[in-house]
Amino acid sequence: VTAEKAGFDHFMLKEIHEQPQAYRDTMMGRISEDGKSVDLKEVEMTDEQIKAISKIHIVACGTAYHAGLVGKTVIESLARIPVETDVASEYRYRSPIITPDTLVIVVSQSGETADTLAALREAKRNDARVLAITNVVGSSIARDADDVITTWAGPEIAVASTKAYSSQLIAFYLLGLYLAQVRGTKTQDEITEVIDAMKQLPEQVERILEQSDIYKQVAEAVSKHSNLFFIGRGLDFAVAQEGSLKLKEISYIHSEAYPAGELKHGTLALIEEGIPVISLVTQEELYEKTLSNIKEVKARGAHVLAIANAGSEAEVGRSVDELFAIPKTLPILTPALSVVPLQLLSYHASLALGHDVDKPRNLAKSVTVE
Ligand code: G6P
Repeated sequence: VTAEKAGFDHFMLKEIHEQPQAYRDTMMGRISEDGKSVDLKEVEMTDEQIKAISKIHIVACGTAYHAGLVGKTVIESLARIPVETDVASEYRYRSPIITPDTLVIVVSQSGETADTLAALREAKRNDARVLAITNVVGSSIARDADDVITTWAGPEIAVASTKAYSSQLIAFYLLGLYLAQVRGTKTQDEITEVIDAMKQLPEQVERILEQSDIYKQVAEAVSKHSNLFFIGRGLDFAVAQEGSLKLKEISYIHSEAYPAGELKHGTLALIEEGIPVISLVTQEELYEKTLSNIKEVKARGAHVLAIANAGSEAEVGRSVDELFAIPKTLPILTPALSVVPLQLLSYHASLALGHDVDKPRNLAKSVTVE
């Protein structure tokens, strides 16, 4: 058993540490040698079909849904195609408007989730093209989809998904770039810039992992609370939702992720002395707005922990109690880095509380019933 875990105490920790490799493997062969373009041979849509896409629906469950929330912003900003992201168990029952020029993207680590599979079939019944992002070659979802982008994260054993999620983000970056190339929505320089920055991500994750111990200390403090909040704006809010889910799944601590600007519309009433508020502050153009929300919670006694970009310590640091810096990348790529501290935080919180990290109560790795 120890051998399977490659010396790590738990599969989750091993899988967190496999992310740099998962990123490299998911990018491999999909970026041209000169670093100037993305080539997704597995996407068999013709350029005409890609140009004819009028909208995209991203459908998934759990952590894969959270990857889809990032995917929405990535595709909209790179390829300028309108995207909606839905939870699979809701999608079918809201009579979604699926037309033949809708691209439905289903995201699933296992490729076997019943609700996601049902959403895929609903999309096909409406003559939409279905593209799957999945980690399991030959899975039901991979077999039924028209196009499949495999995330090469390797087998994920821990129930709480880590490397599958972050590899799904890589898949969305590749897809966003590919659609942008075909539709001509980004200049060559802009595409090269994103590709260059993507290539740095594996090594940047390695740098975060070297600091694993600092998250252990925070996690121990956090584990003494029964309630906390995650806040952020834009992509930071998408990652906040994943951070909150991760913590719930394995530490059983109740938390809520909130768009920072929405706090004052209700949730602020729950902020009391000492409550931890984990704030993601990585999106430069939203810094000031998020910092003003941080001041609102601090004024009510919250203990604010921030995940921010290296180099922003002076600006962000003075408004928060503790700051954890992540390496600097392009704003759009930040989720592939900022999620890592949150994974480590959940892992160490679960451990501090003595829970079964890899097999949390009531949860299954793959949910094949609706
Ligand atoms: C279960 C797992 C989650 C996962 C979700 C979707 O609830 O516990 O970790 O995110 O299913 O799974 P999928 O295999 O479709 O990504």
